[in-house]
Amino acid sequence: MQPVNRGWFYAHFPERDGALLPAVEIFDLMDLGPMPPLAEGCVRLKLSLIAVAPMAKTYLELPGNDTGADELGLHRTALGSPSPCEYIADVVESRSPAYAVGDKVWGMGPLFQYRDVRGDGADQPGRQPPMKAMPGLAPEKLLSVVTASAGITAYCAVEHHVCGRVEAPFEERTVLVTSAAGAVGLVIGQLYKLKGCRVIGVTSSREKADRLEGFAGYDAVIAYKTEDLDARLDELAPKGIDVFIDNVGAEQLDAGARHMKIGGRILSVGAIGEMDAMVSGDVRGFKEYLRVPARELTFGGFLMYNHFRRIPAAAMALVGLLAEGKLKSAETVRHGGFEDWADCVDRLYDSQTFGRMILALDGNGPA
Ligand SMILES: NC(=O)c1ccc[n+]([C@@H]2O[C@H](COP(=O)([O-])OP(=O)(O)OC[C@H]3O[C@@H](n4cnc5c(N)ncnc54)[C@H](OP(=O)(O)O)[C@@H]3O)[C@@H](O)[C@H]2O)c1
Repeated sequence: MQPVNRGWFYAHFPERDGALLPAVEIFDLMDLGPMPPLAEGCVRLKLSLIAVAPMAKTYLELPGNDTGADELGLHRTALGSPSPCEYIADVVESRSPAYAVGDKVWGMGPLFQYRDVRGDGADQPGRQPPMKAMPGLAPEKLLSVVTASAGITAYCAVEHHVCGRVEAPFEERTVLVTSAAGAVGLVIGQLYKLKGCRVIGVTSSREKADRLEGFAGYDAVIAYKTEDLDARLDELAPKGIDVFIDNVGAEQLDAGARHMKIGGRILSVGAIGEMDAMVSGDVRGFKEYLRVPARELTFGGFLMYNHFRRIPAAAMALVGLLAEGKLKSAETVRHGGFEDWADCVDRLYDSQTFGRMILALDGNGPA
């Protein structure tokens, strides 16, 4: 008997009273009926771990209320389409010589509980076959770090973007990272620490800040909900910041910009602080742009879609760092069912997560 499939779909216009609705009100879990018999050359995947990431909401198409993202070339999730996701899955059936039942693979695609994919990768983006999970590396760590939406974004921002570049003498370089306890920020901060830089992080609470200092070896972490960002940056970076990697935007982007050294570099990777503005169109924006000419700053933006060709090399570098113990991963794992995914997305916005949030679908062994 074929298993019955389910998928999470973008089903409801995401705005009410100018605010972005919670994910549980935007997405519907839909029954997709029984899977067809598995075709020759294909493998059947059953998701076991789902990376819960802001991209669930950041890429929503906004009919009638577009902020211009399409013209910017951003890939949108159309109303009625499944949410994109990154996952670890078990091979539960195989008609491909490349995969056996019980193999674990990681990949990205629509958020369906079951997926049939070609073992040779001919139907995958970039014709990459579903990647087997690395033996000896916990699948949670792989999903936490070695994914396009987390560690690979971090790696490419630090190693391949002109605004992420730091130059010797590294011990004299100060780097600022916002959302430093998030999936992306946590890897970014550690990569600069490995280079020998001084790293200052920003997160919400003092409890998270203390945990982050101990966990990732940050030199200092500011708790933005209870501490004055400008006053703390005056104290922690009196000579200014060389490189500022911003994942939040809005007030935190402005505060960091006020503390840059002459010739400093700012890289905008995300704007989670502008999430509501995505639907209202009322973007707060970058108010400190006059400092760009005044202090000869270089301001850049990063988008992972433009770096897909770098994924294999970045993945190998990150796997190596994890295996050598030079890079730590942190996960907030929620054990539950496929039906819990939208609620997990909403937990990203109440500062309860540390590192990557993962939904572990328990009891998900080979069918
Ligand atoms: N450009 C790209 O290609 C790319 C790729 C991946 C991700 N991103 C972006 O990078 C950013 C971080 O992603 P991630 O996967 O690391 O996120 P994440 O692990 O889901 O982290 C979410 C964290 O963001 C913080 N946050 C939530 N709402 C906030 C708000 N209103 N103001 C300030 N902080 C808030 C919270 O941490 P605190 O407790 O510290 O507030 C939360 O734990 C996001 O903006 C995401 O869209 C961009």
